[in-house]
Amino acid sequence: MRSFTEESNFFASVDPEELAERFGTPLYVYNESILRDRMRSVMGMITKYPYTVNYSMKANSNLALLKIAKEEGLNCDAMSEGELRLLQLAGFPAERIFFVPNNVSDEEMKFAADSGIMVSLDSLDQLDRYGTLFPGTECCVRINPGIGAGHHKKVITAGKHTKFAVALDDVETVHEIAKKHDLKIVGLNQHVGSLFMQIDPYVAAVKSILDVALEFPDLKLIDFGGGIGTPYHKLTGEEAFPMQDLHDALEPVLDEFVSAYGYAPLFKSEPGRYCVAESAVILGRVYARKSNAGVRYLGTDVGMNVLARPSLYDSWHDIEILRNGKSITTGETEEITVTGNICESGDVLAKDRTLPVAKDGDLICVLDAGAYGYSMAYTYNTRVRPAEVLLSTNGSVRLIRRRETFEDLIALQCDTTEF
Ligand SMILES: Cc1ncc(COP(=O)(O)O)c(C=O)c1O
Repeated sequence: MRSFTEESNFFASVDPEELAERFGTPLYVYNESILRDRMRSVMGMITKYPYTVNYSMKANSNLALLKIAKEEGLNCDAMSEGELRLLQLAGFPAERIFFVPNNVSDEEMKFAADSGIMVSLDSLDQLDRYGTLFPGTECCVRINPGIGAGHHKKVITAGKHTKFAVALDDVETVHEIAKKHDLKIVGLNQHVGSLFMQIDPYVAAVKSILDVALEFPDLKLIDFGGGIGTPYHKLTGEEAFPMQDLHDALEPVLDEFVSAYGYAPLFKSEPGRYCVAESAVILGRVYARKSNAGVRYLGTDVGMNVLARPSLYDSWHDIEILRNGKSITTGETEEITVTGNICESGDVLAKDRTLPVAKDGDLICVLDAGAYGYSMAYTYNTRVRPAEVLLSTNGSVRLIRRRETFEDLIALQCDTTEF
């Protein structure tokens, strides 16, 4: 049995058992070197033309990670006023933020525009609303290239069945609305969906948006979106996303566009998962074993509230079993279903998984938990959200988010005796 945490020296000189005892479980543990490595890798997607990576912070919005993204020279995209505010807190200046919302109120648009942040509108109605509020200004439009991709129908954000972006058939109307409000469309963006491991859909979508771009003179930016995948099955040999192949496939496509367009606008990508997924694991504790009608269950404290992806999308996360701080790689295995402590039958982290035989008190280590992990965690069953720690490149362990407390959970509730 392989162990990613040992092969990658994930915990470096830190004992995961000590981390679990010191900070409690469940616990998100981030490795700074892996994080920086993935951020640098995506910067190499386009090298010949002006290019920026917008880290898509919805994948993980911890301030410490945002500051690392800033240090690495990444910009960010945001989806809500809350995300914009976090980026401001992390020290991103307005010109390094791109607001790509969906169905937002005037107030949210005003917050972005008043902060000097570029906004992309993702429907004709939102464009019209923006034009009414801010006539004569610059903005961008999110285009649906007609091609979707992703690991689950719920994360495909382009093509025929999606609430996102302006359809190709409506591009003419974009020009009409822009003219009506004297808006200058200075950028186009798209996002085909999340988690693809092949380059073809992305390249096809890039070609599609570049065709649309030819109908918009004087663009300052074209954003090709995110969605670049992470190998979630690495323990059984799944390879990393072929970033160099994507680079090589995009270059002639961009060459052709630049020569037809007359100049190269700033090209952008918008990856979230690729930057952060592999940089984190979740440590959880085994509290029970049982058999029900012939099915074995391993009961842990990593519930669907801690990691929602398996219950939302049937997502796969590799799991290691740790005993006395070491990953078990030899000995007996068994087929077992790993569950959490939430009152839902769907609270299943891994179904019928072949794992080393675990016992009470062992740790489970859930791999590739850095993207859409903590950012999707919630407090169902009045359970607190976990803490997050960062294993820094200098060897220190930094608490980057404390565990929630019961007092945090009830802070918003009003005492009904007051009414
Ligand atoms: C508009 C937009 N951009 C970027 C992303 C990031 O996707 P990923 O994390 O798969 O790279 C998303 C994800 O939903 C998105 O909706």
